[in-house]
Amino acid sequence: SSLITRSRLKDETVMATISGKTNMVGLIGWPVGHSVSPAMHNAAFAALGLDWCYVPLPVPVEPAARIGEAVQGVRALGLRGTNVTVPHKQAVMPHLDRLTPAAQAIGAVNTIKVEADGALSGDNTDARGFVADLQDHEVDPAGKSVIVLGAGGSARAVVYGLAAAGCTAIAIFNRTQDKATSLAAQMQALFPRCSITAQTGEQLPALASQFDLVVNTTSLGMTPQVDTTPWPDEVAFHAGQVVYDLVYNPRQTRLLQKATADGAHTISGIGMLIWQGAIAFEIWTGQKPPVDVMRAAVEKR
Ligand code: ATR
Repeated sequence: SSLITRSRLKDETVMATISGKTNMVGLIGWPVGHSVSPAMHNAAFAALGLDWCYVPLPVPVEPAARIGEAVQGVRALGLRGTNVTVPHKQAVMPHLDRLTPAAQAIGAVNTIKVEADGALSGDNTDARGFVADLQDHEVDPAGKSVIVLGAGGSARAVVYGLAAAGCTAIAIFNRTQDKATSLAAQMQALFPRCSITAQTGEQLPALASQFDLVVNTTSLGMTPQVDTTPWPDEVAFHAGQVVYDLVYNPRQTRLLQKATADGAHTISGIGMLIWQGAIAFEIWTGQKPPVDVMRAAVEKR
């Protein structure tokens, strides 16, 4: 039997043959209706001729017991794994059998794999996805000094990824100073060879000129608040610096517009979305992900 899935765009018709042998993966989150992940992964499965299918798995926040039931359901229903997105990245953790060091340190799981013995393993591909996208843009974090703006969930993955990839210094700025301080202390203990510090806003102008890379992990600049920015107008970037904005909607944020005007190199966070998915794809299937196919599926949306 065959199933025809039609996306919103007329030219994007994915045909998948679902059989009794089809391998199922999906996305646990709430809401999941606007996610690009199904289109991205199903395009990748189709491109490699893999008998796999990626489906939305919406799990409401209330009642609270639902998330544990959902995770047990992943194993009970014979899924091969799932992605996990907002707001469940932390809540799934106590229901898993093991966590990778990355997931443990970041304190969030975005990828679950059902192992051959049925064990549920939790990983976080955001950190590696971020670093992979930097490398895709020919930016090697090794030996670099970095300013990270924000200290929330995305910042945790970014700081972990950068430190694991050999950055020499990471300065964290956040509106809520306590979160920056505790993130810096925790990551510093894990990565003694990288100087990881929390900084206050007054120190930004002095530090800004010395850093190789600036990463925005806050939501400032995201649609619909496109006029907001995490960076002061009066502090200039310069040529040779790289400014990475995890915000990818819009692609040209106010931060990236300023960085471009100041002569810095800019990177939009769309690639991190693609690479975190590509790494999850490899975790589940063991196959090399068709990254260009996945990118094309995301760009079409
Ligand atoms: P995510 O998972 O995307 O990182 P999060 O964990 O809620 O989301 O973190 C959001 C980040 O954006 C935080 O660093 C937050 O700062 P606070 O820790 O002070 O809340 C930052 N942020 C969000 N809105 C902001 C605003 N209006 N001004 C400054 N920082 C903001």
